[in-house]
Amino acid sequence: MSSKDETLSPLGKYKEGMPWNPVEKVILERRSIRAFKKEPLPDSMIKRILEAGRYAPSAGNMQPWKFIVVNSPEILAEMEKDAQKVVRFFMFLLDYTRGNILRRLYILSWVKWVIRLMKNKLHPVPFCLMTQIAQGKTPVFHGAPTLILLVEDRRGVASPPTDIGICGQNMVLAAHSMGAGSCWIGLIQLLMYLPKWRKKFGIKYPYRLNDCIAFGWPSPKADGIVPREVQLVQWYERGTNDAPRVKKQGE
Ligand SMILES: Cc1cc2nc3c(=O)[nH]c(=O)nc-3n(C[C@H](O)[C@H](O)[C@H](O)COP(=O)(O)O)c2cc1C
Repeated sequence: MSSKDETLSPLGKYKEGMPWNPVEKVILERRSIRAFKKEPLPDSMIKRILEAGRYAPSAGNMQPWKFIVVNSPEILAEMEKDAQKVVRFFMFLLDYTRGNILRRLYILSWVKWVIRLMKNKLHPVPFCLMTQIAQGKTPVFHGAPTLILLVEDRRGVASPPTDIGICGQNMVLAAHSMGAGSCWIGLIQLLMYLPKWRKKFGIKYPYRLNDCIAFGWPSPKADGIVPREVQLVQWYERGTNDAPRVKKQGE
């Protein structure tokens, strides 16, 4: 931390029926922002966001991450251009939803194997987003003035991807608490198909690009709330042989 005499104290003790405290509010109010003002966040603020990441817990305190900050407009523009190119290439090969019937049938005949091989990548959600990007309707990095790349050290114990997720969540919450907007950009993986970007960012064993988060001042055009599922939660609260009570979350 920057100031030595700064004391970090708890916000207070839980009391039944108390209003949401500032930390809970930040968690509940944060949204992914996909429209940013051109003006970048000050460096001092980006440094605080990085500090929030550094203080994340990690298995065995391995801290299996390193961060890369990109705020050069020139590099950002090149990343956007290249990511769009890769999307268009993938959509040319794999988009079984467009074109004439023969093309669709032909692509469908083998695309299911590609989907199995590229597990998680060709899920309908990213597929739909990729269609919009290929059609020039949505930019990959949403015009954000700053990207923070979260690079994972694969030598970490247990699950480095989990550690990185926590680290990134710390960053987006810290950013929101200071009035900045953020959006995770999993699609940055597209750039890893191009050796040029792996080389530029020095991504080679033991490192792997885990994810990226876009940061900036939110523009008024930012997205609204996205609904969440209400999950059923099992509560084990009696003896070892008793079945759990199943309660709807929020009840
Ligand atoms: C790991 C991860 C990757 C994501 N990748 C993208 C992305 O590439 N592009 C994008 O626009 N949103 C991306 N998102 C944002 C999600 O779409 C968003 O978090 C989700 O729709 C919930 O909305 P909310 O963040 O506003 O609550 C990503 C989120 C996470 C956690």
